[in-house]
Amino acid sequence: MTDEILIKKALWVRDRAYVPYSNYPVGAALLTESGHIFCGCNVENVSYGLTICAERSAVVQAIAAGQKEFSAIAVAGDLQKPSFPCGACLQVLAEFNKTMTIYIVTDKKIIEKNLVELLPHIFSF
Ligand code: THU
Repeated sequence: MTDEILIKKALWVRDRAYVPYSNYPVGAALLTESGHIFCGCNVENVSYGLTICAERSAVVQAIAAGQKEFSAIAVAGDLQKPSFPCGACLQVLAEFNKTMTIYIVTDKKIIEKNLVELLPHIFSF
């Protein structure tokens, strides 16, 4: 049930994405161990490089609210085909939980992955 809510929230926040340059909206909903959900969308910038992805935007929301134990994230980008989190977002998510569940939302199906499957060699020191 929580997973369904997480996916609905990712789709809901996707509509809030600020994407005048790529026209590629992404929504992310991050679930904490305590059951809270934090949402984020991509926010683009005219300088392009300052763009923040939806996943990292959700992490920023959660951290600012004092939460850092994450169990899952749902990501809704292109709904026609799977839109996996980029390497930068995977690395940022791995900072908090290297084995969190990642749901990729498409029109037809939900793909479930573990973070280590998408980023098997996480940078660490
Ligand atoms: N984007 C995300 O929001 N998350 C990702 O994991 C990859 C890409 C955004 C950044 C940019 O606004 C748009 O998708 C196209 O690259």
